[in-house]
Amino acid sequence: MTNATISAGLIKGADRRADNVHWQHMAVDKEARSLAKGQKPCCLWFTGLSGSGKSTIANVLESKLHLASHHTYLLDGDNVRHGLNRDLGFSDEDRTENIRRVAEAAKLMVDAGLIVMVSFISPFKADRRLARSLFEDGEFIEIHVDTPLDVCEDRDIKGLYKKARAGEIKQFTGIDSPYEVPENAEIVLAGAETPPEELADEVLNILRREQII
Ligand code: ADX
Repeated sequence: MTNATISAGLIKGADRRADNVHWQHMAVDKEARSLAKGQKPCCLWFTGLSGSGKSTIANVLESKLHLASHHTYLLDGDNVRHGLNRDLGFSDEDRTENIRRVAEAAKLMVDAGLIVMVSFISPFKADRRLARSLFEDGEFIEIHVDTPLDVCEDRDIKGLYKKARAGEIKQFTGIDSPYEVPENAEIVLAGAETPPEELADEVLNILRREQII
């Protein structure tokens, strides 16, 4: 508005780390791998507050899919943070990187022909949008485990809400870090009212109806 200069800088070097990296063609592709497994691969992305029931539902769902001879994998936030993402914390930036990495990992698994469940809070819309953008149309199914904060806090299975309220944990989702409610999730599950077993069946029925399984 004033035309005043508020900052200036020099470009030391553009970020061209991937410039000389070419895409390697593979003789066996996603379609061939999926055919060998006899299934349509996809990414079932569970989002919701800590304690909403994401991992429990995803676990039950994976058991049911596995029993029906589907090839699956479950990427769980708590577990992935012990390995691949052990260098990340809970700042907004770290959560964004957490989601970017797990989305890329899930994409590789879908490319391998698997039905992949991802169970991460994934609180930011932009990060979930980026995850979705990595997949082909119909391959990414967002599942919002919609359990109200007060119910999650009452459950407090890991005792983390109590610690967050006491100020012992900072940047806790729902307390002093935001959760942006999904607006375009393919599936919304009522995590407070319905038992996980029934919610997993609800997802299974939708997957059958949509001819994913
Ligand atoms: S995300 O926000 O980056 O998607 P992620 O799903 O990987 O989170 O990890 C969430 C899990 O980490 C929770 O279930 C909880 O057990 C643990 N946790 C530890 N600190 C926090 C925090 N500050 N906010 C949310 N979850 C936390």
